[in-house]
Amino acid sequence: MGRFQGKVAVVTGAATGIGLGIALRLGKEGARILVVDIDRTIGEQAIDELAKWEVDARLEVGDVGDENLAHSVAEQAITTWGQIDILINNAGIAGETADIWATSPNEMERVYRCNLRGPFLLCRSIIPHMLKRNFGRIVNIASIAGKEGNPRMVPYSATKAAVIGLTKSVGKELATTGIRVNCVTPAVVRTRILDQIAPKQVDYMIERIPMKRTGFIEEIAALATWLASEECSFSTGGVFDISGGRATY
Ligand SMILES: NC(=O)c1ccc[n+]([C@@H]2O[C@H](COP(=O)([O-])OP(=O)(O)OC[C@H]3O[C@@H](n4cnc5c(N)ncnc54)[C@H](O)[C@@H]3O)[C@@H](O)[C@H]2O)c1
Repeated sequence: MGRFQGKVAVVTGAATGIGLGIALRLGKEGARILVVDIDRTIGEQAIDELAKWEVDARLEVGDVGDENLAHSVAEQAITTWGQIDILINNAGIAGETADIWATSPNEMERVYRCNLRGPFLLCRSIIPHMLKRNFGRIVNIASIAGKEGNPRMVPYSATKAAVIGLTKSVGKELATTGIRVNCVTPAVVRTRILDQIAPKQVDYMIERIPMKRTGFIEEIAALATWLASEECSFSTGGVFDISGGRATY
């Protein structure tokens, strides 16, 4: 029997990249998956990919920064499967590469809306359902940028640091319940998100990885799914490094 047999997982940004990798690993090990993504076309492709592995998966299209979406995600999962066990807050955008004085307030708002408001809204709408069954695993995908700070990526670095703060706060809030809340802080992984970042900036980020390579989606999925499993029982509010040695704390 798979680790996630009988479990229901909501994975945001699961149409591609790290989110799809996590959804595939959860699904192959038995979970039913609600894919939440802003992009319908690649969202439908992800559902087809999951179907190849006989994963029971549905798609909810929308912006994670939209409060109505957060409510309809919870509603769809509960109506379809009757429970939500796992929430993976993965949807994220890099934002423009620019000095702070050249970064517009609108750009800051745009990145905040996806990277921080999204996980905040989804935690708000899903945790009450987890509390009813006194079980849940929440995994937030932060970034090494949130710990170390990447120059010329202020909205990204600041919102990812805030995801770490959100994780620590909610983890403590729920510590005496059956819900565990943790985050991971990956360094560079080759996905579509790199298309949003200036090539010189990507080189800067890779040069700083002591292992001198980028991470693999499967490596992030392995850590995230352990954090989403019942075996993760004595860790909450934790920040799990997966940066090829880049993290200094
Ligand atoms: N790839 C990396 O180097 C790296 C490193 C550290 C952290 N991360 C984080 O990992 C997560 C996944 O990144 P990725 O590399 O797979 O990115 P990606 O760009 O390949 O995939 C992101 C997915 O999120 C979706 N999405 C974007 N905005 C959305 C919104 N507002 N609402 C709903 N869905 C939305 C996209 O359509 C896409 O399917 C992000 O939070 C990212 O910040 C990535």
